[in-house]
Amino acid sequence: MIGIFDSGSGGLTVLRELRRRAPQADIVYFGDLKNAPYGNKSREELGVLTVLGIQKLIDEGATEIISACNSVSVSIVLPMFEILQLPYTNIIEMVGPTVSSFRGSSARVLVAATRATIESGVYQDGFRMLGIEATGVAIPELVRHIEEGAPDLALAHTVREALAPYAQERHTHVLFGCTHYPLIVPIFADVLRELEMNVALVDPAVPVTQAVLARYDTDGSGSIRLLSSQASAVFDRYAQYALEDAAMTLTSTSLTTP
Ligand code: DGL
Repeated sequence: MIGIFDSGSGGLTVLRELRRRAPQADIVYFGDLKNAPYGNKSREELGVLTVLGIQKLIDEGATEIISACNSVSVSIVLPMFEILQLPYTNIIEMVGPTVSSFRGSSARVLVAATRATIESGVYQDGFRMLGIEATGVAIPELVRHIEEGAPDLALAHTVREALAPYAQERHTHVLFGCTHYPLIVPIFADVLRELEMNVALVDPAVPVTQAVLARYDTDGSGSIRLLSSQASAVFDRYAQYALEDAAMTLTSTSLTTP
């Protein structure tokens, strides 16, 4: 069974893409809403939450993990696999598959993500290794606004403030370096149009799902269980959007702390 981990609703964008490509996969999802947003936390805090969140999924029967939270990608270091007793082939995170999907391109990428992701430099470093130009822009309050169900105008304001300083730079792509951002694609698209930024929007759910299809067992009965560490009407709404008419069970659960 595949386990998907995120701080909240963002990983649902990966779940949605995976369901679209492999409707028969058995999936358990854990959103750690109680501790969200992750993107403003320190690397130390994120390391602890990553182990707890992934352990939760393993306890629920997951054998193959998708870490659908960019903000924790930098925490997924080799010792973690020993700690979780998880073979390192059984975890896929967001940054590696996404950066490598640009291999050979001459893109100039603007990575929009949380503060934790941008300050870690994980995307910028990855793109540099491929000789691709990349700039990071942090949008620190956006995940909180999304999880609080803020109105579209407020979301657009936050996105505009963050992207406007880059309007004159000649980027070819805006990459969603946070899985929450594709939940509001139309808002990003409107703001980019307003700022006359002629760029392609990239959702990492696509390359990550390709990696999952290549490496994981996606045969099953199509069962889906959604767990969150705190009940949230916004999460439920995004879950409906992600799963459309798929049958699912939704449970609030607590995170097991050591
Ligand atoms: N969706 C996550 C990410 O990709 C976490 C965002 C957050 O909780 O701040 O970064």
